[in-house]
Amino acid sequence: MKFSDLIIKKRDGQELTADEIKYMVQGYTNGVIPDYQMAAMAMAIYFQGMTNSETVELTNTMAQSGKILKLDSIKGVKVDKHSTGGVGDKVTLVLIPLMAVMGYRVAKMSGRGLGHTGGTIDKLESIPGYRGELSFKELLAQVEKVGAAIVAQTEDLTPADKKLYSLRDTTGTVESIPLIASSIMSKKIAAGAERLVLDVKVGRGAFMKELEMAKNLARTMVQIGNGTGLKTSAILSNMDEPLGHTVGNSLEVQEAIDTLKGQGPLDLRELVIELAIALIACDYPKHSREHLQKKVAAIIDSGQALGKFQEIVNAQGGKIPDNFQLAIPYSVVAQNEGFVQEVDALKIGKAVMHLGAGRRKIEDNILHDVGIYLHKKTNDPVEKDEPLATIYARNKKDFADVRFLVDKAYRISSEPLASKTLIYESIIPRDE
Ligand code: URA
Repeated sequence: MKFSDLIIKKRDGQELTADEIKYMVQGYTNGVIPDYQMAAMAMAIYFQGMTNSETVELTNTMAQSGKILKLDSIKGVKVDKHSTGGVGDKVTLVLIPLMAVMGYRVAKMSGRGLGHTGGTIDKLESIPGYRGELSFKELLAQVEKVGAAIVAQTEDLTPADKKLYSLRDTTGTVESIPLIASSIMSKKIAAGAERLVLDVKVGRGAFMKELEMAKNLARTMVQIGNGTGLKTSAILSNMDEPLGHTVGNSLEVQEAIDTLKGQGPLDLRELVIELAIALIACDYPKHSREHLQKKVAAIIDSGQALGKFQEIVNAQGGKIPDNFQLAIPYSVVAQNEGFVQEVDALKIGKAVMHLGAGRRKIEDNILHDVGIYLHKKTNDPVEKDEPLATIYARNKKDFADVRFLVDKAYRISSEPLASKTLIYESIIPRDE
């Protein structure tokens, strides 16, 4: 097979066969196909797209390029979740213990994350002693005993995706639905669960800015998952404003704990419940949505999921402090009265990044004690000089640097928004 022929074939809009896709993925991973040829292929895919069977084949071959976690020895239904990433997204910290209380098993691999705020593991490392790196044996033992573990993604999963993603990042070929979908789903297939829910975020603070493109991505991933035997559903959720009231590592862990106590923000609670329903709905085919909503909410309110979170943290060496240590609080107040029309998630994300909560390069250290507490969110009424947000910064200069961004993130007007949508769509395939 000559790879240049395959580039031409794709450039001209023809479908690649399963063997050709295998040849491409294996050849690129082991260095036989050079970057310049793979870059041309990625650009051809960007313009021509891929058929469903091409996308499924690409996903499967990338998943098989490294280790595939074998969770078969764990009894019970193994579930997983993935978020396409947003600002203030602490859903995993609430959803995973909740699923474990309901009897599901979760070996959750999470990112340390580049971007505005830390990934889930960075957030958890706000808890003194928390160990995000477990050996595979330790991971299995903890899931067996406690029901769940939340660990950093191991290096040996999907090397093909790692190499292709870095190439796409530098060749203008990230924004291709089949390439994004196969990249995300190959990692999820390799993580070994039987069921998956995807939280596809849409809006200013999300990777996907447009609802139609996000829907297309969600549907493609649901199709790939179900086509490869991973029972997959997806929720499309709003990321125009941050989720909950907090952005920043320690602040977000505290808010997740509050939510597990039944005292957290309503948007976070609603989204967690929606994602949980997507994972359990097929086990309760005769029950209505409302029934499942009540069932999941009752478990949160019982405090059992909070207990499970503490168990998970303790099993991984952490001890939840009574109070998280935070940096110096500085207030940002409203310059006029009215209703909050917008809290721009991207601007808040950038501000928190500047404070040191996120990392630009993989080797950067992150700060756990900095962040922003949003007192006001979209549609809240506000008086002149009332606090909009508290910025937790290490010093006055950092505060002064980000203050204008936080000010600009808020848009206040005399009228509230006509409506505010958190969940755009749930894609939950029914069993045939
Ligand atoms: N996230 C991924 O894991 N892969 C992509 O291609 C885009 C976002």
